[in-house]
Amino acid sequence: MAGSSDLAASREETPFEHAIRLEHVEKFFGPIQALRDITLSIGKNEIVGLIGDNGAGKSTLIKVMTGVLAPSSGRIFVRDKEIDLADYSVRMAHDLSIETVYQDKSLADQQPLWRNFFVGRQITNRFGFIDVKREKEVAAEMLLTSIGFRGVGITVDSTVSQLSGGERQGIAIGRAMHYNADVIVLDEPTVALAVKEVRKVLDFIRRIKASGRACVYIEHNLAHVHEVADRLIVLDRGTVVAEIEPKDMTVADLTEYLIQLQQHTA
Ligand SMILES: Nc1ncnc2c1ncn2[C@@H]1O[C@H](COP(=O)(O)OP(=O)(O)OP(=O)(O)O)[C@@H](O)[C@H]1O
Ligand SMILES: [Mg+2]
Repeated sequence: MAGSSDLAASREETPFEHAIRLEHVEKFFGPIQALRDITLSIGKNEIVGLIGDNGAGKSTLIKVMTGVLAPSSGRIFVRDKEIDLADYSVRMAHDLSIETVYQDKSLADQQPLWRNFFVGRQITNRFGFIDVKREKEVAAEMLLTSIGFRGVGITVDSTVSQLSGGERQGIAIGRAMHYNADVIVLDEPTVALAVKEVRKVLDFIRRIKASGRACVYIEHNLAHVHEVADRLIVLDRGTVVAEIEPKDMTVADLTEYLIQLQQHTA
């Protein structure tokens, strides 16, 4: 975790309380109501785990937060300022420093790491050409500082296909941190990963916190999310049914609670 405090220190501070706030958000897909009366906040330096059964509305909620889907009604605030929903889009969310890391879809497999860092954001020289030397230098710095890969045999010239699943998540998270995201949104970052790889991803999530940012992440594995999250938001049939601080509930009690919810639904 060396370097995390310098990360926090080097980051520009703009005063705000909540990275994202939703008020009375609803989302319909035709007659299906996927989200009902969602009011929640993501603190500026908080790790929030989104949990709930299949179909509870977790992915829909994240898509609304990140501009992928427009809510049917409700209000969205980013850094305490209300967003005009007519304008909200993935691009705007991005411009507002909300970065989403999608499992596997975020990186190009056959490309070296340094190229992956600069997709869509090339550094060009004064002739308008891509400045490869500079990009490699910045990528090497990112590997060391944001991501914390030290002496593990991974360089900026390694291809993504050489990396383990956990390391790939790390690269995608590190890239988001480098671009000064205030909020990093992860949809099931540990799914299909081996135990050792899961540990790495959980460490990357801790780095997000240590660098002063917020993270919202969907996780099915309750033990993992209980371990790293500051707060858990439980969704059930499109609505928030509980907000839990892991210190107030054991993993066993949390599991029991979710089972009860499902039985209630059945
Ligand atoms: N594009 C869509 N069109 C119609 N219905 C949708 C669409 N997307 C989601 N839904 C419905 O909205 C509800 C919530 O789905 P969502 O994908 O948000 O659940 P989830 O909590 O992410 O589930 P999972 O854990 O299985 O990923 C479900 O009933 C789903 O069928
Ligand atoms: Mg989902």
